[in-house]
Order: sequence, then C-alpha cells, then structure tokens
Amino acid sequence: MVKRVLVINGPNLNLLGMREKDIYGVETLEDIARRVVAEAEALNMDVDFVQSNHEGEIIDKIHFARGRYDAIIINPGAYTHYSIAIRDAIKAVEIPTVEVHLSNIHAREEFRSKSVIAPVCIGQICGFGGNGYILALSAVSML
Ligand code: DQA
Repeated sequence: MVKRVLVINGPNLNLLGMREKDIYGVETLEDIARRVVAEAEALNMDVDFVQSNHEGEIIDKIHFARGRYDAIIINPGAYTHYSIAIRDAIKAVEIPTVEVHLSNIHAREEFRSKSVIAPVCIGQICGFGGNGYILALSAVSML
C-alpha cells in the first residue's frame, strides 16, 4: 500500500537558502522539497510538501490530514518552542508524526532545546540539515 505523507514547514522556512546560512545552509526549501519528492517516489510514498508562516494555518493543515495521510513530518520552526496549539492538534488527529529540524536545537540557545511538540511525536530528528527530511521519510517508511 502506498503511504501518504504530509510534510509541514513552519514560519521563516520559506527563507531557507538566504536566512542565517551558517546555521541553516544554502539549500532552499524548494531544493529540499524536490529531494523529498524524489525519495518518496523511491520509497513508494505519496508526499505533499507545504509551508506556512501562520500558526492557525498549520493547525488547519494538521486537521485536514486526518483520514487523508498516514504520517506527518513537521518542522514547526520557532513554534516548536511554545505552540501548545500545534502540539494539541498533533495529539488530536492521532497520526504518527516526526519532528524535524535542520539545526541541532540542543546545541544552540537554551530556549531552543525545549520542544513542546516532541512529546506528541514518535521521534525527533535534528542537526542534519535538509537530510533530516530524508531521514524522517525513511523512519516513516518503517512504520
Ligand atoms: C528550526 C529551529 C528553530 O529553533 C528555529 O526557530 C527555526 C528553524 C530548524 O529547522 O533548525 O525556524 O526549526
């Protein structure tokens, strides 16, 4: 059976490639999306790749995923550290979710090491740049 996966990117990730390159690298979100789509095909998965700068829109996308996707991969950006609303949405839809970050959030400012999202996810992948999304797809393919 083909697995359906929704990849959600949060605020400021549309600026990848020009934003804090020393931390996030030079790959754009479009570059990452292309790699994710190619890898998903190889793994026999259907993937949709979206980005929003708005908390409510991200929550709507998570709600929309219910009954339509088998797994979610999410990089919630800065919402990672304080959005109880996104956490509650993930918990509510009961879809296996993997949290991804380009940077190693545990090796940066202290406020970034706390994720309010991680406890409702099956796991967290961080510190591998855009490859983290590919690792997350691989993790989801084993579910
Ligand atoms: C990020 C880490 C967050 O702390 C930050 O706010 C981001 C990007 C990452 O992918 O490394 O916007 O989620």
